[in-house]
Amino acid sequence: MNFINKKKLIVTPSINETNIVFKYILKNLYKNVLKKVKEKNFLKIFDFGSGYQNLKTINSETYNFEYVDFDPLRNKENIFEVLEKIDNKTIFVALNVFMYLEKDLISEILLFLSKKKIKILLNISKDYFFKKQLFFIFRNYKKNFENTLTYEEQCDLIKKRYNIIEKENMFFSDIIFCEAKI
Ligand SMILES: C[S@@+](CC[C@H](N)C(=O)[O-])C[C@H]1O[C@@H](n2cnc3c(N)ncnc32)[C@H](O)[C@@H]1O
Repeated sequence: MNFINKKKLIVTPSINETNIVFKYILKNLYKNVLKKVKEKNFLKIFDFGSGYQNLKTINSETYNFEYVDFDPLRNKENIFEVLEKIDNKTIFVALNVFMYLEKDLISEILLFLSKKKIKILLNISKDYFFKKQLFFIFRNYKKNFENTLTYEEQCDLIKKRYNIIEKENMFFSDIIFCEAKI
């Protein structure tokens, strides 16, 4: 399956190279994600769509969980061969990634993970009202959301294979913790 949609190649900037406002928002997000990993007693993270490995940076300054990542824009291995190697002691994390992927690919990934009973932690941007506010703060922000899947579309795909157990409101987005349906 083809991973990359060339019309919308978007990567969150490196946390060390962005402006102070964005850095604050991002750091807060990654810290809350890591807090959730701790609360759920995981020791290992698989960071799917890791971009500039911002989560890895904050992890190394805080909890230091074992960390593995994969980014389709950088890694050329078959994702399913990579996912095959993770076990259910690892939490699958994808922060602002699913919105850029094709629905069929998301469905396949979720089916694959759910069969292995892998728990997942996602960050999903909320819809238009909040995006519009951000657009006024950050130049070029709008293009991050052009032709992307909506919050509802992503949740509908998730709910086919996973139960949403917890949702944490991050104002611009929700952190969502899910367990596979039996
Ligand atoms: C907004 S970045 C998020 C990076 C990282 N998760 C973070 O929070 O810093 C979006 C990620 O989605 C994936 N992505 C973006 N555009 C894509 C595309 N056109 N095709 C496939 N994957 C894409 C890449 O993995 C990219 O790093």
